[in-house]
Amino acid sequence: MEKRILENLNTAILFFNSDLLLTYVNPAAEMLFELSSKKMLQMTAKDIFHCPGEVIDVTLIKSLESGQPFIEREMSLPLPDKRIIKVDCSVTPLNEPNIETNILVELRAIDRQIRISHEEQLISQHHATRALIRGMAHEIKNPLGGIRGAAQLLEEELNSDDLKEYTQVITREADRLKTLLNRMLGPNKLPKQQSINIHQVLERVRMLVKAEMPKNILFHRDYDPSLPDTQADEDLLIQAVLNIVRNAAQAIGQKGNITLKTRIQRQFTLANHKYKLISKIEIINDGPKIPDYILKNIFYPMISGRAEGTGLGLSISQSIINQHDGLIECLSEDNKTTFIILLPLKENHD
Ligand SMILES: Nc1ncnc2c1ncn2[C@@H]1O[C@H](COP(=O)(O)OP(=O)(O)OP(=O)(O)O)[C@@H](O)[C@H]1O
Ligand SMILES: [Mg+2]
Repeated sequence: MEKRILENLNTAILFFNSDLLLTYVNPAAEMLFELSSKKMLQMTAKDIFHCPGEVIDVTLIKSLESGQPFIEREMSLPLPDKRIIKVDCSVTPLNEPNIETNILVELRAIDRQIRISHEEQLISQHHATRALIRGMAHEIKNPLGGIRGAAQLLEEELNSDDLKEYTQVITREADRLKTLLNRMLGPNKLPKQQSINIHQVLERVRMLVKAEMPKNILFHRDYDPSLPDTQADEDLLIQAVLNIVRNAAQAIGQKGNITLKTRIQRQFTLANHKYKLISKIEIINDGPKIPDYILKNIFYPMISGRAEGTGLGLSISQSIINQHDGLIECLSEDNKTTFIILLPLKENHD
């Protein structure tokens, strides 16, 4: 019973023995540090908390020696992925007769609340943009059909081939515009709900991009094998991930690395919905940093840094991920661009 409570807490719980060796870690803590309990259980407090000045380390020793609990509010905690988050940290020594003293460490991320509101803002912004684009594309498509039809009628009335060339330009350009608008409108079918394996999606994309790009791209896979199957539309997800991986391949030039990474996140809130499990898919490449003016609006249609790009790839990916109740984000720094897809894992009976 106690174990079940610990396993389902949102607060990260760590238990250390008197040598400051970790003896228990709950799933919330595994998630926070992005390390499995198996890996963490061989670590000392010092290995886990890379705090400047070893604040937690010292606090633990102080607490152990004095038998007194400590609470540190809004402490900066560097994570293994170099992010620094703010946490409220409590350290409680557990003195029980005849048992070696243990130390209980509780970490509550306070950034999480800020992050949730940021995600909600992103999602509603994505929805608003999509609605605007769809409305516009739809409104352009109708008169375009009229223009094309009229050009064809006119062509039938013309006797001179020279003049027909002009009407053919109109038809051809109208067709080109229609294809573009259709891409802007995005997938026009509702996603199918089939049981799919995310790793299979990533593998398909990896093979496709490998075949397309004869360059020296090294793919690395860092998959979480415990990721369960989910209900989603496989073709649409392939399309969403393909657009991102293609961009990554185009960005790294002649030689570089693309990493496909998956992780499970437990008890995660996305767009006001609390999900038991979500999958975090990361596509990381080591190309140049995306310039800020592109990064700011990267998921908007028509935003492109490539001469031959239409700037639609990512806006399509985004609308597919949104259709699956997920979220997509981009982080870019020198030599490391990461696209993160957060996708709720839906069980069969959902
Ligand atoms: N991994 C990446 N590294 C660097 N820049 C990127 C990366 N992914 C996207 N970009 C930038 O974002 C822009 C928008 O990408 P998006 O896929 O939406 O359009 P595109 O690739 O230009 O055109 P399309 O995909 O429609 O052919 C790209 O043109 C590129 O400048
Ligand atoms: Mg693209």
